[in-house]
Amino acid sequence: MVESKPRIITIPKITEDRGNLGYVESGRHIPFTIQRVYFINDVPGGTERGSHAHKKLQQFLITLSGSLSVLLNDGSRTEEFVLNRSHQGLLLPPGYWRTLRDFTSGAVVIVLASEMYDPDDYINDYDEFLAWKKLRTVTA
Ligand code: TYD
Repeated sequence: MVESKPRIITIPKITEDRGNLGYVESGRHIPFTIQRVYFINDVPGGTERGSHAHKKLQQFLITLSGSLSVLLNDGSRTEEFVLNRSHQGLLLPPGYWRTLRDFTSGAVVIVLASEMYDPDDYINDYDEFLAWKKLRTVTA
């Protein structure tokens, strides 16, 4: 089942004198099968990323280093998540207009994704997103 609300999920962390190890298993710590992994780094200060929504894609974002802020808009309200812990990730369901911003210098975010890359899954226009949400509410 696809979850409909974004939420923070704490992942296992093995802490040892020789360092920390975190891990994520498909279907156990996150509610989808991982099909793709990508990461974002070297983001210049003041840059915003995202500014789109996905129709089907589920994602799990973990900040491995540094901090960033994720704004999620569901068509009527916006919720902000500050990601600054490597053992806590953000489950990001489809149907949210996302903005990633306030990257600290050296921030690294890894994204686990439920689908392969598909440009047709993107909604890049906010008005189109609102229309899509409305349609989905009517047909749901
Ligand atoms: P995009 O999803 O727009 O990044 P962000 O949401 O962080 O702003 O992707 C940026 C570029 O990378 C775009 O040209 C598409 C490409 N891309 C891939 O080729 N494969 C991928 O898995 C992803 C996530 C992006």
